[in-house]
Amino acid sequence: AIERTLSIIKPDAVAKNVIGQIYSRFESSGLKIIAARMIHLSQSDAEQFYAVHRERPFFNDLVKFMTSGPVMVQVLEGEEAIKKNRDLMGATDPRKAETGTIRADFADSIDANAVHGSDALETAIVEIACFFPTLNIYSR
Ligand code: CMP
Repeated sequence: AIERTLSIIKPDAVAKNVIGQIYSRFESSGLKIIAARMIHLSQSDAEQFYAVHRERPFFNDLVKFMTSGPVMVQVLEGEEAIKKNRDLMGATDPRKAETGTIRADFADSIDANAVHGSDALETAIVEIACFFPTLNIYSR
């Protein structure tokens, strides 16, 4: 089925100047960028976005990292977009990410891991709504 997923290019990858290289991978795999914006997240933006991880031991480091510089946020649309994007990204820990994935090629650590992608349909809906009102999403 055609799905939408939320993608974030994290501060490490923005600082490395590889937004375009990552966008190329989305486009080459048939995913369409139907909304995008660059934003420097505030502490409360990051805490809200990652609220599901609030009790995890890595939460404070995660928020600190995600607010360390601007991020590029986009909605990707296409056939099985959620899985397709997760396959492109590779494992959360870049040391475990398969060769040729975004994280294997651009990430430095489990915190500075270049990209985020929604993990399920329901999550995608909530995450997209965090950043984009419906009228700023341009499908077809
Ligand atoms: P992301 O997909 O953005 O979702 C939560 C983030 O927490 C994850 O990518 C990692 O960058 C970060 N993180 C740090 N430590 C861990 C961990 N042990 N397990 C999962 N995520 C972690």
